[in-house]
Amino acid sequence: MYVNRCVCHSLSFSHLLLLASETGAGFEQLRALTGCSTACTMCEPYVRKALATKETNQPIMSPEEAMRWLKPTPSA
Ligand code: FES
Repeated sequence: MYVNRCVCHSLSFSHLLLLASETGAGFEQLRALTGCSTACTMCEPYVRKALATKETNQPIMSPEEAMRWLKPTPSA
């Protein structure tokens, strides 16, 4: 099973990456612009990973991997 979108807001990671490339937005800016990761927030580590790696179709993360992606970074 793979994760490729913010389900709560029907926002694909492809769309979010395109928006990020067009605007230069990081995670917090994308969240403010689109509402991604503002409902259940389960997609947050996946959105952060997509921004960092450009992977838009990601395998389910372990809880440990998700926590690593949730740690704030200077570029997030
Ligand atoms: S899946 Fe993105 S906020 Fe719920």
